[in-house]
Order: sequence, then C-alpha cells, then structure tokens
Amino acid sequence: MADRILITGDDLEHAVRINAQLETAGFETSLITTLDDVRGAFERREPACVVLTGGLHEDRARQLIALAHDRAVPTLGLVEATEPDATGLAHRNGLTAWLEKPADPAEVVSTVRRLLERRALQRRTGIMGESPAIQELLVKIEQMAPVSSTVLVEGESGTGEELVARAIHDLSPRRAAPFIAVNCAALPETLLESELFGHEKGAFTGAAERRLGRFELADTGTIMLDEVAEMPPATQVKLLRVLEDRTFFRVGGTQPIKVDVRVIAATNKPLKEAVALGEFRDDLFYRLNVLNIYLPPLRERREDIPLLVRRFIGEFAAAHGRKFRGIEPDALQILVDAGWPGNVRQLRNLIESMVVLAPEGAIRAADIPRDIREGGRSLPVRLVGHTREVAGQELEFIFRTLVELKLQVEELRRRLDERRPQHVEVIEVGRATPLAPMDAEPAPEPVLYRTGMTMADVERAAIQAALRETKGNRRKAAELLGIGERTLYRKLKEYALA
Ligand SMILES: Nc1ncnc2c1ncn2[C@@H]1O[C@H](COP(=O)(O)OP(=O)(O)O)[C@@H](O)[C@H]1O
Ligand SMILES: [Mg+2]
Repeated sequence: MADRILITGDDLEHAVRINAQLETAGFETSLITTLDDVRGAFERREPACVVLTGGLHEDRARQLIALAHDRAVPTLGLVEATEPDATGLAHRNGLTAWLEKPADPAEVVSTVRRLLERRALQRRTGIMGESPAIQELLVKIEQMAPVSSTVLVEGESGTGEELVARAIHDLSPRRAAPFIAVNCAALPETLLESELFGHEKGAFTGAAERRLGRFELADTGTIMLDEVAEMPPATQVKLLRVLEDRTFFRVGGTQPIKVDVRVIAATNKPLKEAVALGEFRDDLFYRLNVLNIYLPPLRERREDIPLLVRRFIGEFAAAHGRKFRGIEPDALQILVDAGWPGNVRQLRNLIESMVVLAPEGAIRAADIPRDIREGGRSLPVRLVGHTREVAGQELEFIFRTLVELKLQVEELRRRLDERRPQHVEVIEVGRATPLAPMDAEPAPEPVLYRTGMTMADVERAAIQAALRETKGNRRKAAELLGIGERTLYRKLKEYALA
C-alpha cells in the first residue's frame, strides 16, 4: 500500500501543486482543511507524513503538529519567506522539517522521502522520539554505521546507550556477525580480562579448559564495552593494545590473537571527568572517542514523553493481552513534568507496571506512584554516580517483581475461577443455617446447595433458612417461600423439622 501524505489547504496554490507532485511520485494524498478532517484522517488510517502549507503561527497548526508528533508521524512545514526566524518557529512548533516558500514541489517530495526513511529507520532501530536531539542522533547513527571507527556513547543510565549501539551494529555491514555487550563494571579485574580476552587451559585455578573471550566471539562483528569508565587500569592497558593493533593474548596465552571487531564504548559517567580524576587513561580516552554520541537525559527532551508513553502503553497492553484505553490528560501531564532520573528505562518500566496494575483500563493521575508525582520539574534531581545506578537497578527490580506478582495473581485467580463451579454451586447466599454438617468444620459459606444434595435436601435447607429469617414465624416463612401455610406444616413434619 502506498504511503499516505496529508496536505493542509492553508496555502491552496502550494497545496495543489504539491499534491500533484506527490501523486506522480506514487504517494496517496489527502487534502485537508479543518482540524476535524485531520483527526478523522488519523483515525481512519495513520498517515506517513503531514505537510503543512501555511498558517504556522496559528494555534490550529500547533495542535495538528502535536497530534502528529504524539503518533510519531513526521511533519514538514512551509514557512513564509518573510518569516524572521524560521528555525525558531519550526523548533517551537515541533516541526520535523521545514522549507521556505515558494517551495519547489520536487524538493517537497524529496524532503518527504527523507522523512519517511528516517521514520523507517526509527521503526527498525526502535529509537523513538521527534525531538531535535533524537533526530540528530538518527543522522549520526546513519553516518557512523557504515564505517568501523570506534564510537563513544555517553549518557545517563536508561537514555538508550545500548539501543544506539545495537542500531549502529544493525545498520552496519557487520550486521550478520555477532553483537556482544560486556558490562565492565560487573566483574572483578581477573574475571573481566578472561571474559574479554579468554584464557588458556590452566591459566589460573579453575581454568580447566581453554575459553574464548568476547573479543574472539565478536570477530567480524561489534563489541559494546558498557560502563567503560569502571574498567580497571590493567585492563585499560590491554584494551588500548587491542584498539591500536587489534591483537591481544588470551590470559595465560603466548600466541597473539588477531580480530576484526568494531568497538562501541558506553559510559554513564562523563569519561573526560574520569580522565581528569586520573581514573581513566587519557590515551585510551582518545582512542575510544573517535566518534562521539551524547544522549541527553529525558528531562531535557520532554516533548518526546507523550509519544513514548503512547507507544509503551500500546506495546505492553498487547504483550500482556490487556484492553487498555490509554492515559488521562492530567496523568500524562504529570509524566511530562516528572524528573526521570532513570530516563527512558524508568518511564518504560513504570508504564509496564501501570498497564498491569491500573484497575480501570486507563492510567489516571491517582495510579502514578507518589515519588513520580512529586519528583517533577520544580525539584531538581541530583543523583550522581553510584547512588543513581543502584537506585535505578533496585527500582527496576522492584517494578519487575511487582509486575510479575500481579500477573501471577491474575493467572491464579483465572485458574481458580475456571475450577470453582465444578465444586460448589451457590444458588443463594444468605443468613441461612448451615446444612447438616458434612464434617466437623463449620461450612465456610452458608449455601443452600452442594454437589450431592437431593431436591428434598434443598427444600429442607430452604425451609430452615426461611424460618431463621422469620425468627420461627411459620406464617411469614410460608409467605417467603411462596407456599401455603398448610404445605409448610406438612413439609416440616416430612423433614422432621417440627
Ligand atoms: N529513544 C528511545 N526510544 C525507545 N525506547 C528507548 C529509547 N531510549 C531508551 N529506550 C528503552 O529504554 C530502556 C533502556 O535503554 P538502554 O539502551 O538499555 O539504556 P542504557 O544502556 O543507556 O542504560 C530499553 O528498554 C530501551 O529500549
Ligand atoms: Mg545500559
């Protein structure tokens, strides 16, 4: 199916010419004039791109852009030649791209194509966001993917460092070879070295067999050295050698091993600071920092939050098989304003837990945990280094556990519900006297019917219940039971209740 492009009719002359050119280029187009048109068009079938031909200073344009933005649909705006600050206007409005008028229809088509490629790239890599920072990131990834130079990715925990490293690998000519991530902070020095470079049989106590290291396993592929700032000094020296001539020795080995591995290093701590503190070798820093990517924290690109929230809700509602309507506007506002020290990871985990835990099939403000509601913009979040790391990991663990628990409880409940009717069938629950005891334990629920009872037993129990209800008044009991008083007397005798 051809991609559909929405074109606003603010500037009809441009709209008509662009429409024709896009159709010639094989796109399906719709000319739209009102905001309702736009909403309808979005509901029927999500467009691939929106072209705004004018009216960029009007509120309507801002609303339209916000609508597209939240659905990760790129927007292209045509700006008047007289506009004093086109870049500023585009940024403020959240346009993905802009062109000056009069716009050449062929250029509009090529820009739309570029935006669609970018969108396909985002789908492929899973990197979401319409903010300028994310759009610039995507350009960088496209530029860095084809070469083999070392990349240093810097950003707070949860900003997507691993996502970016994988994207670079997946778009590179190495994509068919392995991508291997090693966390340099997780292992003590000797284990880390053996993990990275492997060891020979008998290299140390416990080294019963030769073991290949991650560098060998990643040959012709990519290795991600996560939390590289935590690498012990001795390992830093060895890494430097690998980066210089791509050779190393297995622990306990004498044969140099040569590999073709692209290195992507990532760090949550600014590496330059670690160098200044003498914790990290500066020669290694320069070797790693050939290409550089900085991932801004989520609080510096809040405009991406609604889009991320929407996507994560969809993802987890589908994953957990839940009917979920979405999020109420005031709840979304709280999320947009929150501090997010754990960045996208924290947001994603929170959405998952709320999709599972929120009782109403929609996220309401009250469903948002208090620390998120109170950790908004007004309170600067100053968590650094280890504290943040640990807090993030612990929180993640707690979230996971909660979500798992809730799902397990639901599963249990479902199974119980499936089985319950086979054991007990309750036709009425009241203050009825328990039936003739079946065992020494008092019956857990006053019931009028259990498997194995005859009609007579039921009748007997019903009469007992009615008598209890009327405190022994037989006339009233007969009335309750809908039988004549005489019939009741007969039955009382019959069941030896009199
Ligand atoms: N821009 C983004 N779009 C979509 N998901 C993201 C984005 N950034 C991070 N995530 C998600 O957040 C989580 C943490 O990302 P990750 O790459 O492991 O972070 P880091 O390595 O920086 O700690 C992952 O589930 C990842 O998919
Ligand atoms: Mg990580």
